[in-house]
Amino acid sequence: MKNILITGGAGFIGSNFIRYLLKKEPNVQIVNLDILAYAGSLENLKNLPDVERHTFVQGDICDADLVNKLMQEHKIDTIVHFAAESHVDRSILGPAPFVQTNVFGTLTLLEAAKQAWGQERSGHFHHISTDEVFGSLALDEPDFTESTPYDPRSPYSASKASSDHLVRSYFHTYALPVTVTNCSNNYGPYQFPEKLIPLMILNATQGKPLPIYGDGLQIRDWLHVEDHCEAIYLVLKGGKMGETYNVGGGNQPTNLDLVNWICSILDSIHPAAIPYSSLISYVRDRPGHDRRYAVDSSKIKAELDWAPRHSLEEGLLDTVKWYLDNMDWVETILKEKDYQAWLDKNYEERGKK
Ligand code: NAD
Ligand code: DAU
Repeated sequence: MKNILITGGAGFIGSNFIRYLLKKEPNVQIVNLDILAYAGSLENLKNLPDVERHTFVQGDICDADLVNKLMQEHKIDTIVHFAAESHVDRSILGPAPFVQTNVFGTLTLLEAAKQAWGQERSGHFHHISTDEVFGSLALDEPDFTESTPYDPRSPYSASKASSDHLVRSYFHTYALPVTVTNCSNNYGPYQFPEKLIPLMILNATQGKPLPIYGDGLQIRDWLHVEDHCEAIYLVLKGGKMGETYNVGGGNQPTNLDLVNWICSILDSIHPAAIPYSSLISYVRDRPGHDRRYAVDSSKIKAELDWAPRHSLEEGLLDTVKWYLDNMDWVETILKEKDYQAWLDKNYEERGKK
């Protein structure tokens, strides 16, 4: 691992990973290919440690000529592939870009890796995926393992499932050295405020309604983004080629409990005239809303000695504080993007229950 192509490195997890890797590995050179779509921003890459080892290239992972050129010019030996359309609600309102970037973009990168690494297949292609490919669990069903059958239920998860299958097919068919991680819901700094946790923090501080989809009893398995970064790093260092590793936080509150938790943190560190929980507002459910995700991480724990370092209690408090302390970041990225148009479109769709 010397010359790394990171795709989607201006997004939430990708930018956290770049920060993590520059600190961890003093000799790697990073090329960060990102199109700067609505969730990507150079604001996420300010104050990087050892910034001269990071080269930013604005471009599309579907652009084969550009990807091939970067592979050659930078002698890329490792690809860490984050770039994606990542928001389920957006995939419901417009699936086509999800198929383009998540499926066709992944195929373009796989082809470029196959060409660049020749017959020896000497590199390492690591694909970042999601637990959503496994579908939805009832309360009494066991956690997702690496052998749980795929059952994606949204256009987003269907596109991620397709990309996972393509990545594994390149291992079996062309002996391309690949690994895959399927991770649960991340939270932490630099997450675009369309996702549940930053959206709730932002709306609450602005005195706006906190929209809970359906009955709010859906369950997600929350993991701090730095713990996800560490899992990816351990797979890059010691993962077995052709293998998949599930990564989860083991924290599974209902959405309603989580939002109430955020409200009580805000009540104590940023009090308002009324308790923040009074802003909670039930809205129409997400179509096809997955009820529960829960990830069994025993394989990565046993084989690569990974364990989450952040408890949800401490991670959530730190995250709420981070957003409060970085409102200038929020304002800048929201100014760059057509955020209000998205909110109007999505929450008009949801309406009041
Ligand atoms: P994000 O939406 O914050 O970032 C995605 C990045 O990809 C953005 O910077 C965007 O500009 C870039 N991008 C989009 N289309 C591109 C294209 N065609 N070419 C180049 N760049 C492009 O997403 P995230 O939350 O950081 O997720 C990163 C990856 O992790 C995704 O593959 C996602 O499926 C996966 N994942 C996310 C979570 C989560 O909870 N956020 C959990 C598990 C897995
Ligand atoms: O599980 C991993 C996945 O987690 C990633 O693959 C996706 O990229 C990421 O976006 C995330 O998907 P979710 O759909 O679970 O995350 P989101 O933050 O959109 O929603 C979390 C839960 O909160 C979900 O049950 C829907 C609910 N929700 C969300 C929003 C935005 C609400 O109740 N109200 C809201 O306004």
